[in-house]
Parts: sequence; C-alpha cells; structure tokens
Amino acid sequence: MNDQEIYGVIGEEGFGRLVAAFYRQVPSDDILGPMYPKDDLAGAERRLRDFLVGRFGGPPRYVEERGHPALRMRHAKFAVGTAARERWLTLMTRALDETGLPPEVDAVLRPFFVAVANMLVNRPD
Ligand code: HEM
Repeated sequence: MNDQEIYGVIGEEGFGRLVAAFYRQVPSDDILGPMYPKDDLAGAERRLRDFLVGRFGGPPRYVEERGHPALRMRHAKFAVGTAARERWLTLMTRALDETGLPPEVDAVLRPFFVAVANMLVNRPD
C-alpha cells in the first residue's frame, strides 16, 4: 500500500486510536514518562496524531500549525539514547497490536516507526 492511501483506509479514527493507545502508556513509563510534558499530554498526543495524519495522506494540520516537522531538530532537546528508542518502539508496537489496524496498513507503519526512531537517536551509546 502507498503511504498516501493510508489515511483513506483508517481515517482520523484509526490514527486517533493508535496514538491514544501509545500515550495511555506514557505517564507510567519509567523512561518516557519523565520526558513528556505532564501538563500537556493531550497536546503531545494531538501533535503526533496530526503529524501522522498529514504524513500518510490526510489533512496537513501539523504543517499548518507547527511548520516543517524537522523531527531531529524538535527532538534535540530530549536525550534520546538507545534505551529511549527501544522503549518508544515497545510502546508503539503494543499500541499497534492493540489497535488492530488492517494488515496492509500495519505493514507500512511498523517499519516507518522503526526508521524514524533510529533517525532520532541523538545520544548513541
Ligand atoms: C526514539 C524515541 C522517541 C522519543 C524518546 C521521543 C520523545 C518525544 C518527546 C518527549 C516529545 C515532546 C512531546 C510534545 O510535547 O509534543 C516528542 C514530540 C514529538 N515526537 Fe517524538 N520521540 C521519539 C520518537 C518519535 C518517532 C518515531 C516519531 C514519529 C514517527 C516522533 C514524532 C514526534 C512528533 C511529531 C512530536 C511533536 C513535535 C512538535 O511539534 O513539537 N517521535 N517526542
């Protein structure tokens, strides 16, 4: 499946459920919990959802509101080591398992998350 077709298949609803399932795990996580803004988790959830929606063929809300994603730059203020990367991917893998998106969508999203998470490591061991 083409990246740009994904929004047409799972819509706001699919991305919304996925990202909610991810953020539900964040507050109690010993590595990621302290990194995310406690007073604006709903905002963080919306930013990731809007980014994914725009990246996979939906409305470009993220770019309209935040500008170019520049994800490496936006993560520079967080120390992303390999443990944080592994944990982020563990939580997202669980979220994908729980959300049960159509297999052809799931098969695009899993490797996408791995590739971006690898790119975001800014404190290699
Ligand atoms: C590698 C491990 C990662 C860590 C530790 C991490 C951590 C964080 C933290 C602490 C924030 C701030 C939350 C907020 O206020 O928005 C954030 C924002 C964000 N992250 Fe990550 N992240 C990781 C991987 C990823 C991946 C793989 C993606 C995309 C597939 C991603 C996309 C985003 C986006 C779009 C934002 C909002 C940026 C903004 O507009 O300011 N992150 N991340």
